[in-house]
Amino acid sequence: MAKKKSSPKRSSKLRVGIDLGTSRSAISASNGKRKFVESYVGWPKDFISEKVLGKSVLFGQEALDNRLSLELCRPLEHGVIKEGTSRDEEAVNQLISHLIELAEIQEGQEIYSVVGVPAESLRANKLAIKRAVEDYVDSLMVVSEPFAAAYGRGVLNNAIVIDIGAGTVDFCIMHGSMPTDDDQRTLVTAGDYIDEHLYAMLKEKYPESDFNLNMVRKFKEEHSYIGKTKGKIEVEIPVGGKIMVHDITEEMGRACESILPAVLEHTMELIARFDPEYQGLVRQNIILAGGGSQIKGLDKAIEASLKEDGLCKVSVVDDPIFASADGALALAKDMPDDYWQNMLDE
Ligand SMILES: Nc1ncnc2c1ncn2[C@@H]1O[C@H](COP(=O)(O)OP(=O)(O)O)[C@@H](O)[C@H]1O
Ligand SMILES: [Mg+2]
Repeated sequence: MAKKKSSPKRSSKLRVGIDLGTSRSAISASNGKRKFVESYVGWPKDFISEKVLGKSVLFGQEALDNRLSLELCRPLEHGVIKEGTSRDEEAVNQLISHLIELAEIQEGQEIYSVVGVPAESLRANKLAIKRAVEDYVDSLMVVSEPFAAAYGRGVLNNAIVIDIGAGTVDFCIMHGSMPTDDDQRTLVTAGDYIDEHLYAMLKEKYPESDFNLNMVRKFKEEHSYIGKTKGKIEVEIPVGGKIMVHDITEEMGRACESILPAVLEHTMELIARFDPEYQGLVRQNIILAGGGSQIKGLDKAIEASLKEDGLCKVSVVDDPIFASADGALALAKDMPDDYWQNMLDE
């Protein structure tokens, strides 16, 4: 994708919503295109690897598959662009360029974009993100991922969104106006934390078995649960070169459950920030988003814990991969022209 500054004539307007996640990034555009890519960027280590790979930069799964020949970067690993690492900023820049290319945006179209990022990143790295994105778009607004997901569902008032990603769990309260920093919370015990916890427990139980963190993440994505599960969870893992069946039922439940106490604590604290008259409404409007919202039984477990203090309803977004990008697109479509204008002046 050519950088914007070099294209003088603009024929038509295009709105895009981008979700810049730790593990996955997605784009949803008003031309109807929706694409996602794992948030990995890799540069060939030397000219030999560049010759072998035939590209100067690789993205997503392709970058992961070729990681041995690449300098691999996961730019938002801890929810923020690491301070002082221009490599991360460059990676975000490349990732945006790649997403815009995936959405088949025509050269010369005027791009109005809303970008959702982890809440912590919004606080710490707003400028770095703007710098990384502004080369490719004409107008830009940066919001938090959970806010984008909430907007997409039309949930604007008396609600809490909990976005469970890889690196962070992001909370956002909706009270009928644009959320401020104070309305958002970030926890670093999210999907990656479950993977590490599960990996450690399985290493202890099966010290002779041969598996890595990536395999453990796949086990989790297939079998995650909290509470009760039907039957045993059994996976195949090699031991001394021979594939053997391993029972991981108990460890899976315990690893998934490990994020629950902190999630509950923050949810209760955020409910308490609402006017007491509205707290009952908020309890019935708790929304789970992000890949981690797919953990079976998570919604019921949160409901069960919060019910002690009154009625409560937890729902899960239908499409966790695109919920934030679609929400960001909805925001880009709805935003009045003078808002964009003000942002250009910022
Ligand atoms: N079915 C599932 N059960 C549990 N966790 C899942 C499931 N599917 C995806 N995940 C986890 O969700 C996280 C990614 O969520 P995502 O919203 O894409 O993250 P981010 O916004 O950080 O990029 C990863 O930790 C991934 O393993
Ligand atoms: Mg996300």
